[in-house]
Amino acid sequence: MTVKVLRGRVLTFVEEPQGRDDTGSYRYIEDGAVVIDAGKIVMVGAFNAKAAEPYEVIDHRPNLIMAGFIDPHIHFPQMQVIGAYAGALLEWLNTYTFVEEQKFGDIDHATRIASRFFDELIRHGTTTAAAYCSVHPQSVDAFFGEAEKRDMLMVAGKVMMDRNAPPALLDTPQSGYDDTKAGIAKWHGRGRAHYAITPRFAITSTHEQMAMAEALAKEFPDLHIQTHVSENLAEIAFANELYPNYGDYVGIYEKFHLLGPKTLLGHCIHLSHRETEVLAETRSVAVFCPTSNLFIGSGLFDYDRQHMHGVRIATATDVGGGSSYSMLRTMDEGYKVMQLRGQRLTPLRSFFHMTLGNARAMSLDHRIGTLAAGMEADVVVLDARATPQMALRMETVATLEQELFLLQTCGDDRAVAETYVMGKAMKSGLV
Ligand code: GUN
Ligand code: ZN
Repeated sequence: MTVKVLRGRVLTFVEEPQGRDDTGSYRYIEDGAVVIDAGKIVMVGAFNAKAAEPYEVIDHRPNLIMAGFIDPHIHFPQMQVIGAYAGALLEWLNTYTFVEEQKFGDIDHATRIASRFFDELIRHGTTTAAAYCSVHPQSVDAFFGEAEKRDMLMVAGKVMMDRNAPPALLDTPQSGYDDTKAGIAKWHGRGRAHYAITPRFAITSTHEQMAMAEALAKEFPDLHIQTHVSENLAEIAFANELYPNYGDYVGIYEKFHLLGPKTLLGHCIHLSHRETEVLAETRSVAVFCPTSNLFIGSGLFDYDRQHMHGVRIATATDVGGGSSYSMLRTMDEGYKVMQLRGQRLTPLRSFFHMTLGNARAMSLDHRIGTLAAGMEADVVVLDARATPQMALRMETVATLEQELFLLQTCGDDRAVAETYVMGKAMKSGLV
């Protein structure tokens, strides 16, 4: 008997919330059931004791059951960089990150960190991520190998980088192309793995390498592309200096035909009007990484401006520039970034982003991001009373909206009671 029934307060989004009280944007069932068979959700509805009788019932009441969190921008080789003390992006990259990433040429190191990486994702309720590996193909093998063991839906690729980094961290236009192609052949479509073409950013790729990334994108039009853009003022100036005839930073990726609906662009903080329009026209995704942007001091993402212009927005941790694996902590910091810009982020919109919003941004909403029949059974269970102070505060919480906001404001991995991957309880199994 493989059928299991998760019982609890079920919350799932059906649309992007338009206002604070947009009750049409979600479905909420106070005593709900998520029925899972062979890794897929087969039914979501009111709990029915009689119907559930033949099956294993896992009672998560009074906790909330939601679709697993999705993190669309994270760096797997940066686990041991979190909290590195630096003034700004380029110093942070050169002093810590490019030193640390060199270790991932060693498959044993990469394998050990991969295991710890997926432990952290599960601990924090994240069931899917778009990840950057290091330049080394073996880091991709370690990453997808570990994801496969846990049957987790992951998007990842080796970074292509052939300049402006230590020699041990450089490929060449040809080897970057060959290694990416081999990675695609080996991993893309194997189980739940999706390979992403990953030119790290314009500063670490020559024109020749960008042309190779373009060739790969042309050969494999269904693949995700991930890179960074417009994070920091010195970075923007350097990128424009390296590519003087491209108009602006977004123009570099545009001219190499790297923009489109499956392109995830980390940061997008200091975009010009033209750049914003290009992202909207190409349906590219701007990935808001609040803990990173605050920690590295990169700037305040202009959510409302991007949203108003029709740019697709995702929200992500950007570990290890980001300081937490938690999507709850991420949205809490995102809320504060928006506060400082005089913008409002409603609790409903926050939780939409962590689930369906990020699934849509990654073009994976037909498989994950919601709880509904036919979806893959990646699920998070949230406990808003996880700590003494949260339990005390919950005594005065009267609405679902207030509970979500408390989870976001005070929650972290302690508020994740369980994480299911393809219907399998994963967090409780961690040591
Ligand atoms: N730009 C290029 N590489 C990186 C990285 O690893 N982290 C961040 N935050 N920005 C980048
Ligand atoms: Zn990043």
